[in-house]
Parts: sequence; structure tokens; C-alpha cells
Amino acid sequence: MTRVGPPRGGLRGTVDVPGDKSIAHRALLLGALAEGATTIHRFPGGADVLSTLGAVRALGAGAERRGDTVRVEGRGSALGPPGDVRVDCGNSGTTMRLGAGLVAGGPGCVVLDGDASLRRRPMERVAEPLRRMGARVETTDGHAPLTVRGGRLAAIDCRLPVASAQVKSAVLLAGLRAAGTTRVREPLVTRDHTERLLGHFGVRVARHPDGAAVAGGQRLVGTDVPLPGDPSSAAFLVVAALLVPDSRLILRDVGLNPTRTGFLDVLGRMGAGVEVADTREVAGEPWGTLRVRSVRLRATTIGPAEIPGTIDELPVLCVAAALAEGETTIAGAGELRVKESDRIAGIEQLRLLGVDVRTTPDGIAIRGRAGRPLAGGAVATAGDHRIAMAFAVAGLVATDGVVLDDAGCADVSFPGFFARLAALGASVSAP
Ligand code: S3P
Repeated sequence: MTRVGPPRGGLRGTVDVPGDKSIAHRALLLGALAEGATTIHRFPGGADVLSTLGAVRALGAGAERRGDTVRVEGRGSALGPPGDVRVDCGNSGTTMRLGAGLVAGGPGCVVLDGDASLRRRPMERVAEPLRRMGARVETTDGHAPLTVRGGRLAAIDCRLPVASAQVKSAVLLAGLRAAGTTRVREPLVTRDHTERLLGHFGVRVARHPDGAAVAGGQRLVGTDVPLPGDPSSAAFLVVAALLVPDSRLILRDVGLNPTRTGFLDVLGRMGAGVEVADTREVAGEPWGTLRVRSVRLRATTIGPAEIPGTIDELPVLCVAAALAEGETTIAGAGELRVKESDRIAGIEQLRLLGVDVRTTPDGIAIRGRAGRPLAGGAVATAGDHRIAMAFAVAGLVATDGVVLDDAGCADVSFPGFFARLAALGASVSAP
């Protein structure tokens, strides 16, 4: 158990966050499929990306990690295990779904499995389009373990029923090894790191307002991939600095891809003047510096179109809403129910801290406390890294702090999160 309580003063200084997890997964997978070597810089090293590192090794690519650098020796179109292989995806949906797309057009038979949380998450959404391309994919009642027998693939033009960057990416990765041009149409815009990174590896990708298309048979050329700081990790520190009075934080070299910065738009509407400076493009992705000061927040409305661009930040945005003035509503967020845990149920625990919260199958309404501190309490993380970190931020503004049953799960995406909070003056202890 870990207790997080308010710091003595404001959170001040310059902090760094680990490299972007979403891009790191993709850099490993594309590096494995490329010809030649790929070097990834500022590798985040959380449990999820280590699952993908293990996956590319299992598929026959060389991958060596030295500190925060990883060098991948790509196998080109020969990528794939010589026979049957089992890949442990741990807690990582991105490893499993993108991994399925990557191996669908390769040799061998790959069983993708994961922990209890990952085994509860929906996998038909990725299996179905891959089958239509010609891969033999079996799920276990719609879930992992997932068995993919690769083979010759034919391109498809598919309309995805859910807005999911993981499914879009899986189909594009399979499309690289399919005959013809594969087109993916998505109901709402989702993160586009796969499309951008494919371009960085020398692949031509056609971009459309509703998705992307890729012609099969293109060569990927190994390259250098410097990673920006992960905006999803930065979001926890940004909200912390907004809520803890007298704070001023600077976060340098954070990824500012517009498909990931929806949380800054939401916070902007809530009255937070997060300053964005030093913006530039590095390896096809926008980077910049964030400067944050504490402020009184007001409620806002987050509608369905904004969900894919804020999906991973919604738990911590709910903590911001809990301190704001007025009622914040979130609609069309049913995907939160099938993340690492049921995050709507997780967020509902704000009630234990004295917050008025109402939930529906796909929505949340939070009546904020208009700056009044939260009550202290104990919450269950359900082993979900983002629920753990969101409630740790709540602990910073809870009179008696917040006790988390399992803080270790933060290592899935943000190793060193609690040490960063402690270094900024927060009280972090074993109760
Ligand atoms: C991710 C996409 C999102 C996100 C996840 C990472 C990715 O999932 O929630 O944390 O790297 O593509 P979905 O594609 O399932 O929405």
C-alpha cells in the first residue's frame, strides 16, 4: 500500500517524463520489420514496452537495450518465428493487437497471450479484419489467448466499427505484407503515430480525413527514432501542478501530436493556461515544452468526438473536474469500460473522497468541489496504472491523502512516477 498526501508547498521545477509508450511500441515493431538497424532513443522502459521488446525477439529480430537506448536488428520481410511461438504480452493491449497485425502476413504460428486484465479485453475487433485479409486468427471466446497463423494476405478496404488506433494500426501493419492497397476508415480520428512512423521508415502512406491507406510490398528502412516525452504521462503532472496551489512546473520535449493533446484543449476550456513553447518537429512528430501554473478550474463538457483524443487522460481529467467549479460531463466514453480495468468504475471511487459522481454505461458526471480539498480515503487501483496515477494526483489535494492498494502498477507506463512526486515535495509513504 502507498499513501500519497499533499506537499508542504507548490510543485516547482523542471521535470522529465519517460519517452512516448505508444510510439515506442511502434518503433520496436517497425524496426523488427525493417531492413537494417533501428535505434530508439529515450526508450521508456515500462512493463508494456518491455512486453513488445520480448515480442520482437520472439519473432526473430535482435533487440538490445542499453540504458534508455534500444537497438533493433530488423529481419525485413522474413520477420516471423521459424515455427510455433508463444508471446507474453503482459498487460499490454498495444503489444497484442499490433502484434497480431504484424504477424498476420508472416511465417509461423504465433499465440499471443497476456495477464488476467488483458485476457478480459475484446480481441474480435482486431481478429475480424485480419481474417478478412486471409489470416487464420482464433480468439478464445473473443479474448486472448489469440492464435494467429500467418499466410498470404489480400488487401481490404475496411470501415472500423470502433475508433481504435490499435485496430487501425494492426490492419495497416498487416497491409504492409498484403497484395494490393489496404485502406482503413475510422469513425473518429484516432492517434496517427503508426502512419507518421511508417513515413519515417520510408513507407508511402496515403492519409485521408477518415483514415489511411498503404500499399503492400513496400520496404521499411531501419532508422533512428528519438522519442518525445509521453503526453499521457505528462498529463498527470500537468493536472497535479494545476491543482496544488502555488505550483509552477516545466516539462520539456513532450510529444504534442494533435491526436494526443486533447487533454490540453479540455484543460484550456476549464481555465488552465498551460503555455506551449519551443514547438518543433522531430522524426515526423511535433515536440514542445509545457509550462503549467496552478489555477482555479471550472467545469466543462467532453463529448463523443473528443473521446479518442483524450481516452488515456480521462481518469486524471476527472480528478481535475473533481476540484473544479460546476458539473463536468463526459459522454460516449464506453471504451473506458474495456481498458486495463473498467475505468468508469475506477473513477467512480472519487465518491470515496467526497466527490459527487454519477455514471452511466458510457458516461460520467462529476460535480466539482470548487477548489475545496478532497477528503482522504483508500482506493483500489484494480492493477490499472492510469487509475493508480490519477488517484495519486487526487492524494496531493486530499486533506488526509489517498491510500492506493497497489501503486506498483504505475510501472506499466511510468516507471519512477512516485519518485518524481516525492522529489517535487509530495508526501509518498507506506501507511
Ligand atoms: C493506443 C491506443 C488506445 C489507447 C492505448 C494506446 C495505441 O487504445 O487507449 O493506451 O498505442 O495505439 P485503443 O486503440 O484501443 O483505443
